Amino acid sequence: MRPILLAGATDAFARQVYAAVDEALQDRVRLWPDHIAAYGAVEAALATNPVVVVLGPSVIEKVAFRIAEQIDAERPDVGVIVVRRDGAGTPEEALAAGVRGLLAEDSDPDTIRSTIARAVNAAERQAPGPEVPWSVVARARVTTIVSPKGGAGKTAVAANLAVGLAQGAPRGVVIVDLDLQFGDVAYALGLRPRHTIFDAVSTSGDLDMTTLKVFLAHHSSDLYALCAPDQPARGEQIEVDAVERIITLLAAEFDHVVVDTVAGLSEHTLATLELSTDIVFLADMDVPSVRHLAKVVAALDKLGMKRPRRHFVLNRADARVGLSMSDVAAAAGLPIDIRIPMAKQVPVALNEGRPIIISSPKIPVSRALWDLVERIGGKRVVERSGPLARSA
Ligand SMILES: Nc1ncnc2c1ncn2[C@@H]1O[C@H](COP(=O)(O)OP(=O)(O)OP(=O)(O)O)[C@@H](O)[C@H]1O
Ligand SMILES: [Mg+2]
Repeated sequence: MRPILLAGATDAFARQVYAAVDEALQDRVRLWPDHIAAYGAVEAALATNPVVVVLGPSVIEKVAFRIAEQIDAERPDVGVIVVRRDGAGTPEEALAAGVRGLLAEDSDPDTIRSTIARAVNAAERQAPGPEVPWSVVARARVTTIVSPKGGAGKTAVAANLAVGLAQGAPRGVVIVDLDLQFGDVAYALGLRPRHTIFDAVSTSGDLDMTTLKVFLAHHSSDLYALCAPDQPARGEQIEVDAVERIITLLAAEFDHVVVDTVAGLSEHTLATLELSTDIVFLADMDVPSVRHLAKVVAALDKLGMKRPRRHFVLNRADARVGLSMSDVAAAAGLPIDIRIPMAKQVPVALNEGRPIIISSPKIPVSRALWDLVERIGGKRVVERSGPLARSA
């Protein structure tokens, strides 16, 4: 995980920071041992790929602002926090230098915690995150697949997206099956999970990440999966709060969380969307599917859910049904971002539990899925040699 680098910090200040930040961030705090204002020191510090650099009280404020400016120019994905020492620089100057937060040597723990959490959030999500509660320091991109209609291809898209993302971030991706009654992510991945989300919500006491990890299945593509219960009655018992807790925990731990959902906007889906950075709207190439999608988009607008990035994926986009792409985009009220063609290999791959994105990466349907992987911030990687083995 990208470290939070404390440069020019006294031991006392470093201890203060360590004690103030959330537990989830504590083991990311690192002390930069060298003089940060020395020649080449900034480059060396950036080479450790920090998420945030805190320029501590040993750095003269004007110098700190200059360093912040340099970091902002070279690495806009790194947040800089300056600890004010002499009041020589104004907050306006700090802003102009790209400083994401100001602290004082005697800032209280709450201020230190929220300033650092905010900077981490902003740097990782590349968007300011005041909507995110400070107890939730999400690092992941949480992508939820939504479709108003059953059978549009949610599970196929979610499973392939997750596997594709995992190719570029092994062990950094988890897929969650929120089709709680009839979810078939496990089936699509050829998994026979020993545990499901039902076990996770049935643990006594507060669920934490260590416990939750026990219930994840591991797929041979180095992807984790939290599968749906094997009995529909168990799915019915899962509360929205529990789902919120699970997504929050996973978002703090993984690089990517991909969520497959049940058709429409269930309460569980809505709660997950609140925690999502990305929504993949999926529709089939038919008028009811696209019209219903427009209603879903309107409903989310009404709820003020503007934060997640929206991606419109049209499945079976080559179906000859007398609709043009511009008809579809107009009816959905969204531009079409990705078009996935029809391919008989898709059901075959699902039946075999071998995601098509790696079993046949070069066919048009897989190319479109790789486009989606890239859109969600993943890497398009070359196919691994040899067929992918099934995993239990
Ligand atoms: N691009 C495609 N080409 C051919 N078949 C496809 C394509 N996308 C999905 N399918 C097939 O359509 C069927 C439904 O797909 P999938 O199960 O992914 O949909 P879903 O939206 O998850 O359905 P549900 O609402 O029941 O969960 C599957 O048999 C799948 O193989
Ligand atoms: Mg499904």
